[in-house]
Amino acid sequence: MTTSAPTPDTATPGLRMSGVELAFQDGDQTLYALAGIHLEVARGEVLAVVGPSGAGKSSLLAVAGGLATPTAGTVEVGGRDIGGLGRRELTRFRRDHVGFVFQSGNLVPALTARDQLRLVGHLGGDRSRLRDPDALLNAVGLSHRARRKPATLSGGERQRVGIARALMAHPDLLLVDEPTAALDRRNSHDVARLLAEETHEHGVATVLVTHDHEILEHCDRVLEMVDGGLRPVSSSV
Ligand SMILES: Nc1ncnc2c1ncn2[C@@H]1O[C@H](COP(=O)(O)OP(=O)(O)OP(=O)(O)O)[C@@H](O)[C@H]1O
Ligand SMILES: [Mg+2]
Repeated sequence: MTTSAPTPDTATPGLRMSGVELAFQDGDQTLYALAGIHLEVARGEVLAVVGPSGAGKSSLLAVAGGLATPTAGTVEVGGRDIGGLGRRELTRFRRDHVGFVFQSGNLVPALTARDQLRLVGHLGGDRSRLRDPDALLNAVGLSHRARRKPATLSGGERQRVGIARALMAHPDLLLVDEPTAALDRRNSHDVARLLAEETHEHGVATVLVTHDHEILEHCDRVLEMVDGGLRPVSSSV
C-alpha cells in the first residue's frame, strides 16, 4: 500500500463537459435536466454549484460521474471520454477515478469507520492507488473514532468518513451533493474546509453542490445552475 499520489497530469482538466444535455420525456414534452453544459474543472479546484431545487444540480453530478448517460454531448474525466466505455468498463472506471459523497454519507451500518475505508480495497481495482486507511482517518481528524460504527458517530463525523472513503482511491474527480445539509454551522465549515484541503493537496477536481452559502468561502469558484444551464453567480457571494 502506498500513500503517494499517482503522478498528477495538471494539463488535463479533471472534468470536461462539452454540449452535455440530459433530456427526459414527460408526456409529449421534453424536459431538459441539463441543457447544453460546457464546463471544465481543473485538478486541485473546488467548484461550487448553487441553484434552486429542480435546476439540475444532482443531474449534473450523475452525468459527470457516469451514473447517468447524457442524451447529447461528451464527458471527459481526467482526459478520458467516458461515453466510449461499455457498462462494465464504466463501473470499473468509476471505482478507480471518481469519488461520490452524498448528503447522508451512505455508510454501511455494520462497519466501523476504519472498515468503511478498508472495504474500498476489497472492491477490486488497482490496490497501489489506495491510500492508507489509518493515515486518511487521521487526515480527516477521526483517528479516535476508527472503531466506531456510523450509528454512534455524529453527523459531521459520518460525513467526514464518507469523504475519506470517497478519497481512498485517489480519484481524479470528486462529486459531492449537499454534504452539509444535515450539519450545524461549525461542522459545515469543518467539512467544507476538509474538502478544500484534500482537493488542493491531492490535485482532485471537486464539484460541490450546495444550498449552503456559508461554505462558499472555502470554494475556488461558484457557478449557478438555472433551468439546466450553468452561469456565473449574479449576486456577490
Ligand atoms: N429520472 C427522471 N425522470 C424525469 N425527470 C427527472 C428525472 N431525474 C430528474 N428529473 C428532473 O430533472 C430536473 C432536475 O433534477 P435534479 O435532481 O437534477 O435537480 P436538483 O437541482 O438537484 O434539485 P434539488 O436542489 O431539489 O436536489 C427536475 O425537474 C427533475 O424533476
Ligand atoms: Mg439535488
